[in-house]
Amino acid sequence: MSYPYQIRSIEEYQQAWRDSVTDPEGFWANIADHFYWRKKWDKVLDWNFRDPEIKWFQGAKLNITENCLDRHLGTLGNQPAIIWEPNDPEEHHRVITYRDLYNKVCQFANVLKNNGVKKGDRVCIYMGMIPELAIAVLACARIGAIHSVVFGGFSAQSIADRIQDAQCNVVITCDGAFRGAKDIPLKSVIDDALMACPSVKRVIVCTRTRTPVSMLKGRDVWWEDEIKKVETMGNPACPAEEMDAEDMLFILYTSGSTGKPKGVVHTCGGYMVYSNYTFVNTFQYQPREVYFCTADIGWITGHSYIVYGPLSAGATTLMFEGVPTYPDAGRFWDIVDKFRVNILYTAPTAIRSLMSFGLGPVNHKDLSSITKLGSVGEPINEEAWHWFKDHIGKGKAPIVDTWWQTETGGIMITPIAGITPEKPGFATLPLPGIQPILVDENGKEVEGNGVNGNLCIKFPWPGMLRTTYGDHERCRKTYFSTYDNLYFTGDGCTRDEDGYYRITGRVDDVLNVSGHRIGTAEVENAINMHHGVVESAVVGYPHDIKGQGIYAFVILEKQTHDQELTRKDILQTVSRIIGPIAKPDKIQFVSGVPKTRSGKIMRRILRKIAEGDAENLGDTSTLLDPGVVDDIKQGRL
Ligand code: WT7
Repeated sequence: MSYPYQIRSIEEYQQAWRDSVTDPEGFWANIADHFYWRKKWDKVLDWNFRDPEIKWFQGAKLNITENCLDRHLGTLGNQPAIIWEPNDPEEHHRVITYRDLYNKVCQFANVLKNNGVKKGDRVCIYMGMIPELAIAVLACARIGAIHSVVFGGFSAQSIADRIQDAQCNVVITCDGAFRGAKDIPLKSVIDDALMACPSVKRVIVCTRTRTPVSMLKGRDVWWEDEIKKVETMGNPACPAEEMDAEDMLFILYTSGSTGKPKGVVHTCGGYMVYSNYTFVNTFQYQPREVYFCTADIGWITGHSYIVYGPLSAGATTLMFEGVPTYPDAGRFWDIVDKFRVNILYTAPTAIRSLMSFGLGPVNHKDLSSITKLGSVGEPINEEAWHWFKDHIGKGKAPIVDTWWQTETGGIMITPIAGITPEKPGFATLPLPGIQPILVDENGKEVEGNGVNGNLCIKFPWPGMLRTTYGDHERCRKTYFSTYDNLYFTGDGCTRDEDGYYRITGRVDDVLNVSGHRIGTAEVENAINMHHGVVESAVVGYPHDIKGQGIYAFVILEKQTHDQELTRKDILQTVSRIIGPIAKPDKIQFVSGVPKTRSGKIMRRILRKIAEGDAENLGDTSTLLDPGVVDDIKQGRL
């Protein structure tokens, strides 16, 4: 594969960016021309940010899997599409060529059809990081079913919420998943979730850990048995469903500052073009390079940069089942060494955690294959940036600090590897097609360089979300109502003297814990469900490894004799309601929380206390009961 739209110099970048602003439709049409469409578009773009209504490549017909699979068969059929490294380094890895992957996706697409799945149906996928997860995702796309992948760390309750919201009728899962020393009982979690999900008529269970599972007659079937059935039916191919460019491709749930997680909706045409364009350009992917993104497919990073971006580009994408510290903190480097990885894309939290083990696990590993490094998910601190640069990239490999969101579908602000001069801690410049703007509290544009503001985007791009599933008004309110005619990201941002962007973190009540997004309100609701809890307030605080930790202030109905036990009980409740990723790092029992006279919790004050900056609380004169603040300060953990 060659990429005629791959930028090759800083001048080309500047030219492309200017073109994308003066003629966005022409710019994206030129790129879209390099994909396989059953029918081309009638109109490139129709939009308004009021409703909002965003339509890219209207009238075009395609199937994204024909772009990820079929079109590569002639030239790349024997090239590895997916290299899979298991959790246990003693177990054999797998190499799946483009032809293998095509066959497996077709086969499983036929399984889905056999089980009554039709175009437009919603399918929940809850699996570990095995190739069958990518196969399940692509098989849904093949037949036009809308996938909703739920990360394996979420609880039964969280899965049930998501299944109900999307009214899924099929679930694809595994008996269990291996993650480090743990064995996670996925099917058993699904069984709990399904007690509250009457819409689900079929559960397809793939074997991985072979932990005992309950298989309900009439509802649950084994992946392997279903494959055998379609094998005996003859024709293994599965024609791709013809999709409209604006048909839904997938739903992915993400947390916000209020309420339950919302289902971010991405559509077929624009998402395909955008995930591919950003992959090819940001990482400067060259044919045959081995690319390793350490994310989980349960998050948007896995969707766009393990599955759709790389595969639509004919790349070799490495999928790793395990965790960075198992069996030891050298695992990533062993994988790089073993497969001669060229591009490594990971998260600051992983880098910081590996840094804490010192250089022992890095020394004597051959990392000479690495030519490009990437970071995503949260601001990368300078110390981690330099460690990554010096010890992993050996001072030579460029680092791309990629800023984007579940809602943006793909990378938005980032250096282009080896082309954009980098600056530690800065996501640097917008990709072509992206028009960032900083605004102040009143929505007034902050112009010039050396300024701060809230980060917004003023023009649509093909990968952006179209709606939040089942609730378009929520989409409008959350992203398009804070500022007129702008998409609001929820992030604060600096533009320095060179015009470089640095993302400073969320300005709403959303936490970023180890690169995972969690709403404070969500954690509070979970804590409040615990027996004996009257009220709680949750804030973030700086955490050496996780970036942000979760600090909970909890008011109990009555004094507890055993605070430690009560803490553990609350953690259990949060694990049950949301999942282990939302467990507070600190729980402080308090007699009250600071509130305004109108009853609103003053999080600003709690945040200061949690951060250990209790001497600078600012104006507390509007507090209902200033006395509680001293009590809280004294009890700080
Ligand atoms: C939020 C989006 C996008 C994939 C993973 C997270 C933060 C993301 C960066 C970065 C500083 C970053 C932002 C953003 N974020 N990348 N390079 N520098 N902050 O996706 O769960 O949708 O979270 O992650 O705060 O809004 P997500």
